[in-house]
Amino acid sequence: MSKNSKSMDSYKIVCCLFFFFFPQFLITVSGSTEICSSSACSWGEAKVRFPFRLKNRHLRQCGYPGFDLFCDSLNQTVLELPNSGKFSIHAIDYETQNIWINDPEYCLPKRLLTLNLSGSPFTGVFYQDFTLFNCTSDYKRYQLDPIACLSGEKYTVFASSDERAISFLASKCNLIATVAVPVQWTFFEPVMSSDLGSDLLLRWAAPLCGRCESRGGRCRLKSNSSTEIECSNVSRRHGLPRGARYAMTVGAGVPAILFLVGLLCCVCGRVKRYGMQRRSVVEFTSMVTPHATTISGLDNSTIESYPKTVLGESRRLPKPDDSICSICLSEYRPKETLRSIPECQHCFHAECIDEWLRMNASCPICRNSPNSS
Ligand SMILES: *[C@@H]1O[C@H](CO)[C@@H](O)[C@H](O)[C@H]1NC(C)=O
Ligand SMILES: *[C@@H]1O[C@H](CO)[C@@H](O)[C@H](O)[C@H]1NC(C)=O
Ligand SMILES: *[C@@H]1O[C@H](CO)[C@@H](O)[C@H](O)[C@H]1NC(C)=O
Ligand SMILES: *[C@@H]1O[C@H](CO)[C@@H](O)[C@H](O)[C@H]1NC(C)=O
Ligand SMILES: *[C@@H]1O[C@H](CO)[C@@H](O)[C@H](O)[C@H]1NC(C)=O
Repeated sequence: MSKNSKSMDSYKIVCCLFFFFFPQFLITVSGSTEICSSSACSWGEAKVRFPFRLKNRHLRQCGYPGFDLFCDSLNQTVLELPNSGKFSIHAIDYETQNIWINDPEYCLPKRLLTLNLSGSPFTGVFYQDFTLFNCTSDYKRYQLDPIACLSGEKYTVFASSDERAISFLASKCNLIATVAVPVQWTFFEPVMSSDLGSDLLLRWAAPLCGRCESRGGRCRLKSNSSTEIECSNVSRRHGLPRGARYAMTVGAGVPAILFLVGLLCCVCGRVKRYGMQRRSVVEFTSMVTPHATTISGLDNSTIESYPKTVLGESRRLPKPDDSICSICLSEYRPKETLRSIPECQHCFHAECIDEWLRMNASCPICRNSPNSS
């Protein structure tokens, strides 16, 4: 073998190594190594980060006072309210500062009888009064579903928010109590007795991190303070909503093909073309970053004003025949957050439609503009 072809071979190897490691290098650089990074009790549980912290995993300064969570023996994310005990957290929305909670022992109506949010940073967003009745087992033929976990062999417990049902039950049964329930915003249907089991929606007012989060930032405590917060900017790439990530994935496909072409050339030893290929990869990447696009959609506060609902385990849909989000084309699953456009009542995954509305001021299905003003 000639000396020339030998040096050509080592050049090839160096090149191939470069192409092999370059993408990994990028991933390593963009990954953050913060101590207060988000954590979860198990796969599928809510992601926990500031203002919340998981007691066993995050340092005290990673959370805000009153936002301590822990993982129970079943890997549920648990919040202990000062006056009402333990609740499992099913979802946290850091932008709207909402949490969805339930009873870790699956008898939420029982917990509602003693729910007292005072002393906690949380309040309900929408309240609805429910009246609970204790009826003898003779009255089993009501239109309402009984609350199974509160009922016994000889008696059945019902709850209703409906005036007529309440006055009927009042004439037959013993009143237990009327409770103000911090329900989720239910746009589609009246709240029935059986809905008393679905998650409660609570919101925190302080610390105010929603704006920071919605701009892709992360909130944290100022280094010398236990209550003052600051917004730290992280790479916007991490905070991207689902829709934008799809766009990025598609966009990344083109550079990936170029990368493969580059690799092929590398194997063939057509070294000269690398510089050009590399440059076009870089150019493509900068073209698909979200900063570059100018967009005219709705602002976050308008989007936030549209009704949102979280699907329960029963997955009772606003429109039963419409079980697929027409933006991401995936089926709605329990615990997912849906948002509807008030003007036409079309609904979508909240994260899908939010991203869409930020870029387009019209419903993706009927093209009606929700923002008539
Ligand atoms: C909780 O999660 C851990 C790992 O994160 C797993 O090993 C364990 O089996 C889980 N426990 C339950 C009850 O799911
Ligand atoms: C909630 O708890 C606080 C503190 O224990 C008490 O002062 C308040 O009266 C309670 N509220 C209700 C509605 O019971
Ligand atoms: C309902 O009434 C029965 C007696 O009729 C009583 O034993 C039971 O504890 C009551 N249940 C509730 C939830 O008040
Ligand atoms: C934090 O407080 C200490 C004294 O309490 C002070 O010496 C230090 O400069 C402060 N650091 C910052 C960043 O404010
Ligand atoms: C960081 O966030 C602040 C708002 O908290 C914003 O004004 C600033 O432009 C951001 N900086 C960068 C580099 O994105």
